[in-house]
Amino acid sequence: MTKTFHSSGDLIADRRVGYAKLLAETADYAAAADVISQALELVPHWTAGWDLLGTYHEKSGNLSGAIAAWRQLEALDDDGVFGARLKLAVHGATAAGEGVAISYVEALFDQYAPKFESALVGRLGYQVPDLLDGLINSVMVESGTGRFQRALDLGCGTGLMGQRLRDKVEYLEGIDLSAAMIAETTRKRIYDRLEKAELVQFLNSRSRETDLVTAADVFIYCGALPSILAAVVGAMRPGGLLAFSLEEHDGEEAVFLRPSLRYAHGLTATRQALIDAGLEVLRFEKATLRHDRGAPIAGMLVVARKPLDRSPT
Ligand SMILES: C[S@@+](CC[C@H](N)C(=O)[O-])C[C@H]1O[C@@H](n2cnc3c(N)ncnc32)[C@H](O)[C@@H]1O
Repeated sequence: MTKTFHSSGDLIADRRVGYAKLLAETADYAAAADVISQALELVPHWTAGWDLLGTYHEKSGNLSGAIAAWRQLEALDDDGVFGARLKLAVHGATAAGEGVAISYVEALFDQYAPKFESALVGRLGYQVPDLLDGLINSVMVESGTGRFQRALDLGCGTGLMGQRLRDKVEYLEGIDLSAAMIAETTRKRIYDRLEKAELVQFLNSRSRETDLVTAADVFIYCGALPSILAAVVGAMRPGGLLAFSLEEHDGEEAVFLRPSLRYAHGLTATRQALIDAGLEVLRFEKATLRHDRGAPIAGMLVVARKPLDRSPT
């Protein structure tokens, strides 16, 4: 599925959209919204047009206009590809809801896949795979672990985490919601097996067989941690490790949705969620994950262990 429905299917409306985009490039978002509204009079069911209208209204500071446009978007976009619910939730106009906005995340990364590495690593200084790998290595040294038998890289993307893991894992699996990201990583032949899947659903179908689970920059698209951690624990061998990153905030809330449409997790609540899931926290560090619009994104890096079974033999 792709989000790039550039044409409205109407020549005159398309011309107006082109003009609106030029106005937006000069930061005249109010005028751009005006022109898009005119285009939508011609093509009232053009979903991508309502998304653009919402964005231009938001950027011009007309929040009520943006909310009205996204409500219209939500009504038209049955699959939720445009993330209307998340956009409304950021402005308190609806609840973000439980669970992952699957179609939105899938479409986002299907679009992003071809330029993912140049954008993220090249321009935004993305360092999560290196940082997590460093922590995993330090735990391996400390615990005398030689190699992992089975590792699972959740939200494997283009394989940046898998590349770091490859030499220390016998059997390496990667899963991702986005077929285009999977296609990028397939070419690199890093993983023993790849699957297009939603991570909680995938983990819930697994028994206790994995001894390393990684999720680099992935749970930030998923929201609340408890159901994710429960699914990870269920899929891990006793003694298995989980290594992941989160964007952080230092407030009381367990998690909230940012205007970026990524979730930020609370430091205290995250520690508690790990304990509640029955995990031992081995590493819990703050770090700069990458930059976004010139600003550093503060996050946390976690390595936790599922305790060994202590039941009497
Ligand atoms: C920012 S990318 C990170 C990719 C890779 N882990 C890395 O570090 O380069 C996030 C990836 O997670 C995937 N993703 C997000 N939510 C997911 C979910 N619930 N299930 C499976 N994949 C998911 C996205 O499709 C995307 O490829």
